[in-house]
Parts: sequence; C-alpha cells; structure tokens
Amino acid sequence: MIFAPMEGVTDGPYREAIQRAFGDWDYYSTDFYRIPSVGNVHTKTLVKHYGEEYLKKKSHSIKTAYQFLTSEIAQTKQAINLISELNYHHIDLNLGCPSKKVNSNKGGAYLLSDLKALEKIIRDIRESFQNVFTVKIRIGYRDDSLFFDLLNLFEDCGVDGITIHARTRDQLYKGVADWSYIEKAVKHSSLPIIANGDIWTIEDIDRIYDQCDPYAIMCGRSALKTPWLASIYKEYQGRADFISEEFLLKLRAQNLDLYFYELEKEYRKFGYPESTILKRFKAFCRYLFDDYENFELIRGKFLRSQELREFKDHLDQFVHRYS
Ligand SMILES: Cc1cc2nc3c(=O)[nH]c(=O)nc-3n(C[C@H](O)[C@H](O)[C@H](O)COP(=O)(O)O)c2cc1C
Repeated sequence: MIFAPMEGVTDGPYREAIQRAFGDWDYYSTDFYRIPSVGNVHTKTLVKHYGEEYLKKKSHSIKTAYQFLTSEIAQTKQAINLISELNYHHIDLNLGCPSKKVNSNKGGAYLLSDLKALEKIIRDIRESFQNVFTVKIRIGYRDDSLFFDLLNLFEDCGVDGITIHARTRDQLYKGVADWSYIEKAVKHSSLPIIANGDIWTIEDIDRIYDQCDPYAIMCGRSALKTPWLASIYKEYQGRADFISEEFLLKLRAQNLDLYFYELEKEYRKFGYPESTILKRFKAFCRYLFDDYENFELIRGKFLRSQELREFKDHLDQFVHRYS
C-alpha cells in the first residue's frame, strides 16, 4: 500500500510523522520536484526537496520514491545524473499532473499526448539511471486513445512499473475513476501495475484486488482522509463486514489526536513557524470529518481557528466528544 505523492503534503516531516503514527504503509513518495528548463540543477535543491535529514534515515531511503516532473526542454539528464550520484534507489516520473501551467509548458499529463517527446525523455532517463524507475500516469490526456501505446512504450523503454490514476487529464477529478483500465493494463502489460484513483475504504481495496489484480495500490485523498487506512486494511482485509461505522468513527477521533500530535512535533523539529503549521493543519481538514453527520459544522470550527492553540483546543474537545 503506497501513500501517494501530494504537493503541499508529503514532504519529509509529513512522511516521518506518518511513519511514526501509522507506519503500516509499505511505501511513500515525495511530491514532484520540477526540473528547471533554464539554469542548472543543484544537488542542494534536490536534497532539500527530499528533506536532508530524512535522506540519511534508512526507514525513509529504502521506501520512498523521488518524484519529479519534466518536459522535453528541461535539464532532465543533468538532474538524473545528480540523483544517480546521490544514490537514490527509486525515481518516479510524474505524467499525470493536470495543472494548466504545467501542461502548457509541455510537462505532466501533456506528455501522454506527445509520444515522441515522451519516448525521448524516458530513454534519456533510463540510460542515466540504473535503479528503479517508475512512471505515474493518467489514462490519457484528452481521451484514452493512446492508452495501450503508452503501456507498450513504457515496456519497450525499460520502465520498471506504472502507477495508473484511472482518469484522463481532462476529467481532472470528475466522476469516479474507471478501474477497468487497471484491469486492462494488468492483462496487457508485463510490468507491475499500481492502481490509483478513488480507493477510499478497505472494501474498495478488497474489491480492486479482486477485480483487477494490481501489483499494489496507491492512496491519495483517501490517505489524507484516513492516514491509518493501511493499518485497518492490514488488520481487517477480507473482513470489512466485521467493522461497524461506530467503531470507525471512534477510531478516527483517537487517531486524529495522534496524527496532529506527531505532525506538530515533526514540523517544529524542522523549524516550521506556527502560522505555517496552522495553515497546513487547516488544509488537512479537507476530508477528515466527512464521515460525521455534522461534518461541515465540525470542520468549520477548525477552519476558523486564528491560532494553533485554538485549533488544538477544538481538537481536544472533538476527541473528548467522539472517542
Ligand atoms: C493535494 C494533492 C496533491 C497532489 N500532488 C501530486 C504530486 O505531487 N504528484 C503526483 O503524481 N500526484 C499528485 N496528486 C495526485 C495523487 O497522487 C493521486 O494520483 C490522485 O489524487 C488520485 O488518487 P486518489 O483518488 O486516491 O486521490 C495530488 C493529489 C492531491 C489531492
């Protein structure tokens, strides 16, 4: 079970706090480092993006992919050579980012529509990087017409695995991810396929393994909503019927206490000011309370906090009431 790369979330301190609080995730990823088109890439910047002190920790280095985003004109080879010198064991290429700015600069999901540019980039990376090299894609840019060509290209160019967010770029986050593409990819390609998109609950995890037989699954928004999802899956897989809603809501209240405690501890160690910590905490509230009947009211209280102290007081009251 892989904790998905998420910009503004999965930096070093966040990954460390999650490992300490809910360490049942098998694998993590940095959010994307954007390789510049102009100027040199510096080792210091690469290390900073990963989080220098975490790089030295084996618990991080053996189970974290370094993700980056590039384009045909960016300094890809230079960046990859530096990454190789630093001895990273796994890099992941972001081919799913739907941002207009990124796509207009011919990066992210745009490359799914330009196989020639994509092949050149992939071959360049493969030539320079000897360790694990995976790609993270959507099922296409405007539509799915190149889906199988893309799978073939990755296999022909020696990529080691493919994560598939089963939506096109134009679908952004609309509707529900179509897992039938995961199933098709597993049948079509000999590469390990990692399933991603709308895997929210342990029932979903059981279902996607049954239906599609992926190599692994990756959780993004669901990991933000339930950072302990890997732990409950590992304990209750195949037995989702045994868990009541009531149990899950109680567990949520207890675990949120631990979640914010470990995050604050790590952010402070890393030197984040309180205002940044509060801003992040508020952003993390996006999905956390969705399962409670009065979730808007609960979330509203947290979002109106002016200071970290106030946020933590609301948390104490919440935990007391719901656990
Ligand atoms: C806040 C946020 C930031 C994200 N940042 C990245 C990123 O840096 N790299 C990436 O490949 N995907 C990024 N994604 C996409 C997720 O990794 C994932 O592919 C997508 O959310 C679909 O999975 P889900 O349905 O489990 O959320 C981001 C998603 C969210 C919600």
